[in-house]
Amino acid sequence: MKALKTAVSLVLVLCTAFAFAACAPQTSTEPSASESASSAASESAGASESAAPSESAAAGTEGNVLTLGTNATFAPYEYYEGDEIVGIDADIAKLIADKLGMTLKIEDMEFNSIIPAVQSGKVDIGMAGMTVNDERLQAVNFSTSYATGKQVIIVREDSDIKSADDFKGKTIGAQLATTGDYYVTWDYVDTGLAQIERYSKGADAIQALAQGKIDAVVIDNEPAKVFVAQTKGLKILETEYALEDYAIAISKDNNDLLQKIDGALQELIASGEVQKIIDKYIKAE
Ligand code: ARG
Repeated sequence: MKALKTAVSLVLVLCTAFAFAACAPQTSTEPSASESASSAASESAGASESAAPSESAAAGTEGNVLTLGTNATFAPYEYYEGDEIVGIDADIAKLIADKLGMTLKIEDMEFNSIIPAVQSGKVDIGMAGMTVNDERLQAVNFSTSYATGKQVIIVREDSDIKSADDFKGKTIGAQLATTGDYYVTWDYVDTGLAQIERYSKGADAIQALAQGKIDAVVIDNEPAKVFVAQTKGLKILETEYALEDYAIAISKDNNDLLQKIDGALQELIASGEVQKIIDKYIKAE
């Protein structure tokens, strides 16, 4: 399982290197993990002196609004309750904004638009149950990880698929440009073993599965539980497909904002407030 190894080893390497400071922000612009840790620390210490006036007016501080790009189709991380976007990510982002004296504004968009929106400055941060991986680290920086996820496999109750080993000859569904999409593509589609159907929303993949149009869906475990609870005739397989770390995406051009967001996030993790939010949305089994 190549995908599993890639995701897990990345996380392990980074977290071991930063063990003393939880899992520090993951910046791929830095030459090495250890240098990144020290430069992150010194930059945050000297942020006020080193920031040029023009930089302090960069995205993230303008009008004191913090704009969050997300894809609110992904309970319990982000979803609609009436007109309002709520969930673990929305709540954590709100606390971060409060800590920084900023007003949070949430922009809902397609999942695959979030990283481009962060890169172009259309939004200040991206938070969407988003997994840290090598490909994304080429495009954006990531904060400390605030939650973990697992890719799981959903099938119909009467399915003959017992694990990913049974994907041969099957059609697997995933949300477009998510890690579920990448893993299935790399491990099964590129190797000619299986086919994939990509959907702009996880819910559409679930509907297609329930209707018998596809054979399985690979998606994050907590949204999977919500979808399966809402849809008749589906189940989550016991076997996990990959373990992942979720973090906040921030532009590589806005190191000042990365330090601020990460500082606030680390405080919220240390004080137990992040865990409290997670526990509010995810009830212990
Ligand atoms: N964790 C997966 C990824 O980062 C899926 C995230 C999907 N999030 C969403 N809000 N739709 O690719």
